[in-house]
Amino acid sequence: MDQALQPRSAHVGRVLAGEVCDPPPIWLMRQAGRYLPEYRAVRKTVDTFLDLCVNPHLASEVTLQPIRRFAFDAAILFSDILVIPHALGRRVTFVEGEGPRLDPIDEAAVGALADDLPSGTLDPVFETVGLVREQLDDAKTLIGFCGAPWTVATYMVAGRGTPDQRPARLLAAEKPEVFRELIDKLVSASATYLIGQLRAGADVLQIFDTWSGVLGEDDFEAWCIRPTATVVEKVREAVPGARIIGFPKGAGLKIGRYVEQTKVDAIGVDWTEPLAAVRHAIGDSAAIQGNLDPLALVAGGETLDRSVDQILDRLSGTRYIFNLGHGILPTTPIAHVERLVARVRGG
Ligand code: CP3
Repeated sequence: MDQALQPRSAHVGRVLAGEVCDPPPIWLMRQAGRYLPEYRAVRKTVDTFLDLCVNPHLASEVTLQPIRRFAFDAAILFSDILVIPHALGRRVTFVEGEGPRLDPIDEAAVGALADDLPSGTLDPVFETVGLVREQLDDAKTLIGFCGAPWTVATYMVAGRGTPDQRPARLLAAEKPEVFRELIDKLVSASATYLIGQLRAGADVLQIFDTWSGVLGEDDFEAWCIRPTATVVEKVREAVPGARIIGFPKGAGLKIGRYVEQTKVDAIGVDWTEPLAAVRHAIGDSAAIQGNLDPLALVAGGETLDRSVDQILDRLSGTRYIFNLGHGILPTTPIAHVERLVARVRGG
């Protein structure tokens, strides 16, 4: 039996498999990161952020730090969505305080990209997954991940983060066949990467589509839903029954179609989405994951308590995983995270 399918008691896996858990399992997107002094200490020992991502000893340590501190129900692999363009031979750097920088890709460079993940390029990440699984309690879920092809493409085309992903949208509008080729190559590389993570010991996968919210109805179908559905299909061909969480941030009313067509087991929801409407749109076909505003966690106090209670109330009795609506912010006080976990667990 494939390791990903071995029964584990981990709560996240149980919710994805169809159970309602009360209290719900909890983990936080970007839970390993700069708000933790122990992360900052490890980060200082390497030159670049990518050095950390491809160092299995340090990356596994950083993956486990938030589990030790907060006893979250799931660990998420420490890596980044941009290791895929890097593995495909693109130059990727992270500028302190500014974010990622890539050489913007053009038509000729899209044609020159490999059709799939070049063998061996992300082996250090698979090694990290194995090291984490060895050290992680069986009752905890290990989540592997990748960026959705659309979101990864936005960085490859613009060469950096942009407010409205205009360069990628323009390429898709002006040269759809070039953009399609880029997306197809990212679909293959992402599926291979996710399959490798499952085989190395990941229990569950998450596909981050951070920038899906800028796409109009038909573009959302073409560049978010269809590529994601193909990734899911390819992963499940190789690992039948693989459990997958989709996070199409900002999808709004398109969330129902996303769940129906991608066949993800759970849907990550950002803090702007009304939970009752999301539940109505997807029925019981998927679990919900979310959706605390990361700023409520920075604010703490009664704002935090009230926001947490509203989510617990609105989702109680349904299949859900407590999380933020987007990544934890570096300015988040640790005491607020402790307060959040205690409140979700009824403390
Ligand atoms: O969730 C986790 O704890 C696992 C690790 C993880 C990171 N990035 C580590 C990271 C995950 C799941 C990601 C996903 C990711 N990376 C996304 C999708 C989710 C989202 O937040 O929207 C995106 C768009 C990226 C690309 C990326 N990586 C950006 C835009 C940045 C710079 C912005 C920033 O927060 O600094 C990164 C760098 C990055 N990835 C850091 C971490 C901990 C900070 C860099 C550092 O510590 O030196």
